[in-house]
Amino acid sequence: MFTALVIKETDGKVTSSIARVEEESLPEGEVTIDAKYSTLNYKDGMVLNGIGRLVRSYPHIPGVDVSGIVRDSTDSRFSPGDEVVVGGYRFGETRWGGYSELVRVPADWVIKLPIGLTLFQAMAFGTAGFSAMMAIDALESHGLMPSDQEVLVTGAVGGVGSISVALLKALGYKVAASTGRPDEYEYLRQLGAGTIIERSELEAPATRPLESERWSGCIDNVGGSTLGRVLSQLSRGASIASVGLAGGASFSANVMPFLLRGVNILGIDSVSLGIDKRFQIWKRLAGTFPMELLDGMTDEVSLVDLERLGKEILEGKVKGRLVVNLRS
Ligand SMILES: NC(=O)c1ccc[n+]([C@@H]2O[C@H](COP(=O)([O-])OP(=O)(O)OC[C@H]3O[C@@H](n4cnc5c(N)ncnc54)[C@H](OP(=O)(O)O)[C@@H]3O)[C@@H](O)[C@H]2O)c1
Repeated sequence: MFTALVIKETDGKVTSSIARVEEESLPEGEVTIDAKYSTLNYKDGMVLNGIGRLVRSYPHIPGVDVSGIVRDSTDSRFSPGDEVVVGGYRFGETRWGGYSELVRVPADWVIKLPIGLTLFQAMAFGTAGFSAMMAIDALESHGLMPSDQEVLVTGAVGGVGSISVALLKALGYKVAASTGRPDEYEYLRQLGAGTIIERSELEAPATRPLESERWSGCIDNVGGSTLGRVLSQLSRGASIASVGLAGGASFSANVMPFLLRGVNILGIDSVSLGIDKRFQIWKRLAGTFPMELLDGMTDEVSLVDLERLGKEILEGKVKGRLVVNLRS
C-alpha cells in the first residue's frame, strides 16, 4: 500500500482525499519510482477542480510532475537508486501522476536528474521551469538575442512567469514584467525585471492595429486580450511565445503585425516534446538558472494543502513555485 491524493467525480463534481492505494492498482510501465517531491502547476489546479476535461477516468491520482528514486526497472537504461524526473506526456492527466508515494511510468518518459539539481530543486522548476526554458529556446530559434529592447513576461508573479524573468535576466536580456499584483513589484525586481507593467495596461484591447514597437519578444502566460494587445506592440520580426491561458483561452487580434512587421506567435507545447530535446531543455535550465534565487520563489507544502491551493492557483493567488513534499 502507498499514500496518494486521489480525486473522484460524483454528479460532475470532483473531490479529493488522501487515501491508501494498493500497489497492484498502479498502471503498467517499466519503471517504478519511490516519489519524493511533486509540485503544483496551473494545470494541476484545473485537474484538481475537474476543469477542462483533462481527466477522463476516475478515481485518478493527479500531479503532472514528480521527482524521486527508481525502485525497480525492467528497462536497462534505469537502475534502482537512480534519481529521476517525470513530466509531460499527459502524466497526471490521462495517466496516474505525481501526488503519490509510488509512481509507475513507461521508461521513455523518465529523465535522469540533470547534473547539479537536487530532487527538490527539480520540482521547484517542474513543468513551469521547463516551459519557461522551452519558451526562451523557441524565441531564440526565431532570432531573439540580447539587445537594448526589453523582453516582456506576462503573468510574471506566477510559476512560469517568475522563472522566465530570472532566466531571461541571467541570459543577458532586459526584462519587463507584467503583473496584476502591485505588492509584488519588489519581488519581480529582485528576480531581474527592469520595468514593471500593470496587468490592466495590456488587458485593454489595442485601439490601433499597430502600436509603437516596444518588445523584442514576449513570454505570454496569460493569453486572452493580453496576447492580442502584445502582438500589436512587438518589434519588427519579433515573436511571442504563447505558453498560457490564465487570462483566457480565446483572443482577437489584427493581422497587420504579421503583414507589416513579420511578427510570429510560437506555440509552446511542453507535454509532447520528445525525450532527447526534453533532456536538453532540462540541462540548459539547470545550467542557466541563478540558483541563489530559487529559495526566494519556492515554498514547500504537503499533499493535504493541495485541495485549498488547487483553487488558489486558478484565482491567480499563488506566488512563484510550490513544491509538494510527498513524505511530510
Ligand atoms: N504550454 C505549456 O506547455 C504550458 C506549460 C506550463 C504552464 N502552462 C500554462 O501557463 C500558465 C501559467 O502557468 P503557471 O503554472 O505559471 O500558473 P500560475 O503560477 O498561476 O501563474 C499564472 C499567472 O497569470 C496571472 N493571472 C492569473 N489570473 C489572471 C487573469 N485572470 N488575468 C490575467 N492574468 C492572470 C497571474 O500573474 P500576476 O499575478 O503576476 O498577474 C498568475 O500568477 C497557465 O495558463 C498554464 O496552464 C502551459
